[in-house]
Amino acid sequence: MIHTPVSSRTKLDDVGTTIFSVIGELSSRYKAINLSQGAPNFACDSELIKGVTRAMENNHNQYAVMTGYGLLRERIAEKIQNVYGRSYDVEREILVTASASQGIYSTISALVHPGDEVIYFEPSFDSYAPIVRLQGAKAIPLKLQAPDFGINWDEVRATITSKTKMIIINTPHNPTGQVLSQADLDELAAITRNTDIVILSDEVYEHIVFDDKPHCGMATHSELAARSVIISSFGKTFHVTGWRVGYCVAPQALMDEVVKVHQFLMFSADTPMQYAFAEYMKDPQTYLHLAKFYQHKRDLMISSLADSPFELIPSSGSFFLLASYGHLSQEKDSDVVTRLIKEQGVATIPLSAFYTDGTDNKVIRLSFAKDDATIIAGAQALCRARFD
Ligand SMILES: Cc1ncc(COP(=O)(O)O)c(C=O)c1O
Repeated sequence: MIHTPVSSRTKLDDVGTTIFSVIGELSSRYKAINLSQGAPNFACDSELIKGVTRAMENNHNQYAVMTGYGLLRERIAEKIQNVYGRSYDVEREILVTASASQGIYSTISALVHPGDEVIYFEPSFDSYAPIVRLQGAKAIPLKLQAPDFGINWDEVRATITSKTKMIIINTPHNPTGQVLSQADLDELAAITRNTDIVILSDEVYEHIVFDDKPHCGMATHSELAARSVIISSFGKTFHVTGWRVGYCVAPQALMDEVVKVHQFLMFSADTPMQYAFAEYMKDPQTYLHLAKFYQHKRDLMISSLADSPFELIPSSGSFFLLASYGHLSQEKDSDVVTRLIKEQGVATIPLSAFYTDGTDNKVIRLSFAKDDATIIAGAQALCRARFD
């Protein structure tokens, strides 16, 4: 019997293989030094691995409590209290998720309805807009203006309509390395005052803010905290992006809705990892040392690129650095990235990949979440780059 193939109408017609897979494949074909991915190439603390192993050996291998292992939720609450001075109810306002990505999905899916509008900023992490569109809602990108990639709050004000349900913030920012200031938070608070707009605040790089500056997250601001779902990632904080554990915090009315989606999407995050994180976070230095750790890597990358043809855009947080070549050439950024892999053996990401309309600022993104030898070797390869 001949079976006709089943066809199905796509919900995401313009979504294909991500640039990260394309560059990753090309990079491994040419054995390039990989500065493209946001995943560390160095080991996590062996204490964490021992913690997971211990949890498995102690039989913590079944479903965790749906909202997360209790001690881990307590540790998260303690951390937010100590670092940002805000208290969240351990039982009702903290949710452990299977990665920040799942927290983002659950939040948008729970709170955004068909016909709603969601404002976000480009260049942007790739998942926001497709998730919004999957809800039958409209994703509205506003452009961060090069070279400092700050938010134009007047433009935000002018874009808000009665349909605006959510504004997505990401600080520290992937891919630009920019961070919001107290003045930005005050602008956001003023713009959203007396509205029902929810802030989804992606703060996965919350512990990676440089030059002794504070992280201006939503939990530091009473008015914004009251309308925000804040997302974080243990993967980013503890160098274990493959373990897929993160968390969200939000006022109870918002969290009640997010939990409804989470329970059917994941039910609960990986149990042994949650035990290990709870034990490990007992010492706050495990996350508080991160800014210094990555600042050394940022500075090493900057000094190693001193003789490169690129102009570097200052990075204030995250583990990304932007490098511009627009003063030398008008070559497409994706062509430059391909050429750098093939000719110099170093992989980066074209900034145009972070825009829905492919805006090309003649900028590439470098990741310094790498061991020092890789940073130096990658920078040396970039120093050999030629533009005609
Ligand atoms: C801004 C931003 N948000 C979310 C994520 C996803 O984090 P996770 O690996 O915990 O899903 C990333 C990962 O690159 C990111 O850069």
